[in-house]
Amino acid sequence: MPADLPYRDPALPVNERVADLLARMTLPEKVGQMLQLDARGDVKEIVSEKLAGSILHTSPAKMLEAIDLVAKTRLQIPLLTAEDCIHGHSFWPGATIFPTQLAMAATWDASLVERVARVTAVEVAATGIHQTFSPVLCIARDLRWGRTDETFGEDPFLIGELGAAMVRGYQGDGLADPTGILATAKHFAGYSETQGGRDASEADISPRKLRSWFLPPFERVAKEGCEVFMLGYQSMDGVPITANKWLLNDVLKKEWGFSGTLITDWDNVGRMVWEQKVCADYAEAAALAVKAGNDLIMTTPGFFEGAQEAVERGLLAEQDIDEAVRRILRLKFQMGLFEDPRGPDQEKQAVIGSDEHQRLNLEVARRSLVLLRNNVLPLATEANFKRIAIIGPNADDVSAQLGDWAGNSGQVDWMPDGHPRELTETVLDGFRAVAPDRWDITHARGADIERLVPDPEGDTYPDGQPRPPISQGAPVDDHLIDLARAEAIRADYAVVVVGDTVNLTGEHKSTATLELQGGQIALLNAIAATKTPMIVVLMNSKPCVLPESALNAAAVIQAFNPGMRGGRAIAELILGEIEPTGRMPLSVPRHVGQQPVYYNQIRGQHGTRYADLTQDPLFVFGEGLSYSPVTYDDLLVWTEQDRVRATVTLTNTGGRPSFETIQMYVSDLVTSVTWAVRELKAYKQVTVPAGETVTVELELPASACSLVTADGRRVVEPGDFELQVGPSSRERDLLKAAFRLS
Ligand code: NOJ
Repeated sequence: MPADLPYRDPALPVNERVADLLARMTLPEKVGQMLQLDARGDVKEIVSEKLAGSILHTSPAKMLEAIDLVAKTRLQIPLLTAEDCIHGHSFWPGATIFPTQLAMAATWDASLVERVARVTAVEVAATGIHQTFSPVLCIARDLRWGRTDETFGEDPFLIGELGAAMVRGYQGDGLADPTGILATAKHFAGYSETQGGRDASEADISPRKLRSWFLPPFERVAKEGCEVFMLGYQSMDGVPITANKWLLNDVLKKEWGFSGTLITDWDNVGRMVWEQKVCADYAEAAALAVKAGNDLIMTTPGFFEGAQEAVERGLLAEQDIDEAVRRILRLKFQMGLFEDPRGPDQEKQAVIGSDEHQRLNLEVARRSLVLLRNNVLPLATEANFKRIAIIGPNADDVSAQLGDWAGNSGQVDWMPDGHPRELTETVLDGFRAVAPDRWDITHARGADIERLVPDPEGDTYPDGQPRPPISQGAPVDDHLIDLARAEAIRADYAVVVVGDTVNLTGEHKSTATLELQGGQIALLNAIAATKTPMIVVLMNSKPCVLPESALNAAAVIQAFNPGMRGGRAIAELILGEIEPTGRMPLSVPRHVGQQPVYYNQIRGQHGTRYADLTQDPLFVFGEGLSYSPVTYDDLLVWTEQDRVRATVTLTNTGGRPSFETIQMYVSDLVTSVTWAVRELKAYKQVTVPAGETVTVELELPASACSLVTADGRRVVEPGDFELQVGPSSRERDLLKAAFRLS
């Protein structure tokens, strides 16, 4: 390969290099550049025969093999490598695994989330991976959906804030930054609007509904410079997302000016043939996908032949393929991959799992814990002797703590034993480390959650992805309960850690109910009956509905999957070493049939309850207690130029500092279309010292007080509004004051 070819000359402008290289490429080479294939398969076939320009799910060993193979291809176009590093470098043994996105959302802290993404990028980039499939900007509304844990919760504004922060953190100083990785906003758009929570079902969603709630977080990150957008799986109004020209071209590229790269989700192109059945063969599907504006085609090997055949049959012009390839090559040139393919770098890998990264992990875990009920915490550690029984199936369980997309959670095959055990501090480990030495910490499992049985339909799905075993609720085990009961009776406090498992979480793993599975309810009932004060810790991928025994517990803490250091953070919280600061990123029903219970519901329905149940959710978006109560008073609102300004007074009536998340909701009092009862438009986090009163200034842009008209335009309708300020989205928690926009 002569080094003096123009495309290899870094001194030339990127557009010239792209044009030169494109002109040298054959049709198969061009189509190959569009492929992102699964490197768990035969890498030689992928790189040397399918000429794939990009790979994902690459084990450390296969990464080196792939780089060698590329060096032997005719044009030596560097690979783009990608992985799902969605709460840390998921599949790198010993990487820092942070709380899941849902848990991180409970911090409501964009700068903290940005730091997490930065650290993740540094760890990921050192291993030769260039792109992460994160952040997830889907809105969680039906909690049966198995991917609720991957979201930032239910509110478009909060999702946008945290998503934008993640994009900044991942991408660092931009494409040329060797510590940066490409962020991928997914799943564009409306994928989470499932039917019955079932994954990837047709989304019953109109363009106006998309514009109202589902698109704003994506628009926010597009403006933030997010380089890649990944499609969802679903179809909408009969149109598979992969063929949705309106969304991909008119909205994303033309309206928002997105000039980055689009990637399909897993075998989206193939799905149009074998699953959605809107195309007769791969040539038709390839033509449809390319014409709709897709660039990288994830894991549809048949696209290689299909796209070439489409050109041959006149279904697709080669120029359409050129457009996509041009975008992909431009990205590779801008990243400098032709000069430095950014392969694995052992020296840089020294930073993986460093003390500094672990400290950040502890900080975010601490901030993510939400105290939902409390009559007993914090426990006074001055006491000479106490015995605490740490009970429950998730009290000492690494995988429940790390959650989905981590180590051996099922997506890759090179980490059968997951992350090194010693890197995770479970709740039991945490108590042993944090409680005073003179205290006795005991442990009993108490219950099993599930039994795994093979799926009778086979080991793989039609797309070749592994089909997980079926999780069946484990029977109540009286012996385990007796042991736990005995420990609880002997103890001064019982900490009971219940929740779900990775087998009840994720793609293809939506749940029909939100109940605690297996022996867990029986366990909670048994421990409650001992009268030993019970502290319930919910370590689950997504909220569950709670039995009376848990609701009447001395305290309830929502931890979600709190990451490697989560167990320590939980112990610190219970023992009063830190303050509770997390706030719910979504609302929780009392019963699965009460769904959806998201707070920003549309006004207008008959009555406020079911005949057999209240509609009042169990916990609401924004909710979370501090150890010291804080009251909100004296809300004053005025408008100034194009801002809505306010002040509110917070008084901490307790003896500990309280970290408050002051939430600003707007209600448009009369609207031309039916609209949400209230919407979060801004929030501010402040510490109110013990016993003190502080007055806090708040503001939001008047342009945020918008709605989407019947014909799909986002506008501010002049008239009367109400600013609603408080510690949660619950009506009774909010102070209200009127303002007018003209
Ligand atoms: C399918 C999932 O839907 C997507 O979120 C993920 O990034 C890809 N698989 C790659 O693993």
